[in-house]
Amino acid sequence: MNIPLMVALMWVFGALVHGIPTTRHTNIKCEDRDKSFGEIKECRLKVLGRGIIGANVYYKVKKLPVKTVHVNFSVWKRLSGYHPYLFNTTVDLCHIIKHPNPSNVFFYFYGALRPFINANHSCPFNHDIILKNFILDDKMFTIVPVPRGNYMFVIKIMANDAWRATVFSYLDINVDKL
Ligand SMILES: *[C@@H]1O[C@H](CO)[C@@H](O)[C@H](O)[C@H]1NC(C)=O
Ligand SMILES: *[C@@H]1O[C@H](CO)[C@@H](O)[C@H](O)[C@H]1NC(C)=O
Ligand SMILES: *[C@@H]1O[C@H](CO)[C@@H](O)[C@H](O)[C@H]1NC(C)=O
Repeated sequence: MNIPLMVALMWVFGALVHGIPTTRHTNIKCEDRDKSFGEIKECRLKVLGRGIIGANVYYKVKKLPVKTVHVNFSVWKRLSGYHPYLFNTTVDLCHIIKHPNPSNVFFYFYGALRPFINANHSCPFNHDIILKNFILDDKMFTIVPVPRGNYMFVIKIMANDAWRATVFSYLDINVDKL
């Protein structure tokens, strides 16, 4: 049995014991690293309703087309300070869009993100990258359950073979619904 699958199964059992988690964004930060390639125009959370929080990011691309995208995705859990937590993976986004691979944990997170981001079709991307009102989906954590806690997802984005931006997404998991 491979490690990600084992971890996923452990989480399923964890979720059965602790109940189905609910989740929400608590903060988001974005850094662009090369403004000649692209620029973050928007990076914020919006309250969309009671207890409903959407993440919004607008990345203006100045050098189109975007032909390749690699993402380094790591999960950090807050104890005293943030500590690396289980997941640290690099994915070729253009490849996984074409060939979805459920054995990589990123598949589940991207699946949740996909309806809200316009970078959701096969490469190249010939447009700005827009994430609109991304609401965290409880279902995302029933497939790959994460124990209750405060997390930070660090998403480093490389496009056309250079590091272009980093998104720090902070979230609570298993908070009470308002
Ligand atoms: C992403 O991870 C890969 C593989 O570990 C590494 O080669 C690359 O330098 C990383 N990129 C960034 C921006 O940290
Ligand atoms: C993730 O793995 C890369 C090498 O594959 C390493 O350089 C990096 O420090 C790791 N990040 C975390 C958060 O463990
Ligand atoms: C791709 O994103 C657009 C909005 O950016 C959305 O309308 C569409 O449903 C998404 N497609 C998929 C397959 O999720």
